Amino acid sequence: MHRPLLSFMLSTPQLRLSAREAPWDTAVYREPVVQVEEFELIDPKGAISDYTEFQSWLDVERISIVGCRLAHEQLRESMFLEAHGFRFVEMVLHPRLDRLQGLTIPEDDLKIAPADTTDLANLQEIAECAFGHERYHVDPRLDPRLGDKRYGRWVRNSHHHPTQRLLKVLDGERLVGLFIVERQADLTVYWHLTAIAPQWQGRGYGRRVWMAMLHHHQVEGFETVTTTISARNIPVLNLYAKLQFRFMPPEMTFHWVRPS
Ligand SMILES: CC(C)(COP(=O)(O)OP(=O)(O)OC[C@H]1O[C@@H](n2cnc3c(N)ncnc32)[C@H](O)[C@@H]1OP(=O)(O)O)[C@@H](O)C(=O)NCCC(=O)NCCS
Repeated sequence: MHRPLLSFMLSTPQLRLSAREAPWDTAVYREPVVQVEEFELIDPKGAISDYTEFQSWLDVERISIVGCRLAHEQLRESMFLEAHGFRFVEMVLHPRLDRLQGLTIPEDDLKIAPADTTDLANLQEIAECAFGHERYHVDPRLDPRLGDKRYGRWVRNSHHHPTQRLLKVLDGERLVGLFIVERQADLTVYWHLTAIAPQWQGRGYGRRVWMAMLHHHQVEGFETVTTTISARNIPVLNLYAKLQFRFMPPEMTFHWVRPS
């Protein structure tokens, strides 16, 4: 992209709203996609006229998709958004495991290693067909094939990302899964993207791979593992419950999509 990233900021006595372009999504949808970073209603009635400034910005910049994630208790904000064309698309949960160093994790012969350039095509293919529960796949106004493309590109881009690491999981020669992980402050590691290759799902790999990843991070010295999942992703929700993760306060995701 050869133009500056789009960004918006409004702070009045009635509302605070900031949004920023997600260039990786603009590249997939070929029209600007932005993410609301902060949305707080101070005076819902008074905010209605201030909000028109944001709507004008969406029109002027020809923005096609806006994503917004709110804390679960921001119901005034969620009702305001729905009154202004946003639609609820998912609840997200945040599984979290603390005290990793105190866990006893059985040994497994699965191998976890950083992906190299020769793995990229295969890992990209896994990402392009593994996901189906996430917001870009389930919003009926969006083409799910672009959702596939989005996750495939994410895997490819993570290979050169300054802070995200792309890991492959091997059972002997067999490539069974991928993880994109990121080190955070306070001995915490965040899992951005996690998947078992579709042809190996439902055969016990999920549990083995997740345990092997926990062991991998234990050896690296991490204390906490955290991630984000869609509440409708029942297989992975059950997997986290089985592995005794705890769930942090959920968030709600909304999309505004320019009517075609
Ligand atoms: C979710 C996922 C990791 C599970 O891996 P898997 O290899 O299919 O799962 P396993 O066979 O090891 O099963 C492990 C546990 O997961 C849960 N699970 C797996 N499939 C399930 C399903 N269809 N329905 C409900 N629970 C399921 C169960 O708790 C299961 O243990 P149990 O059968 O003893 O109850 C895998 O299906 C996957 O990669 N899905 C696509 C990508 C994705 O959703 N990633 C996570 C969010 S980013």
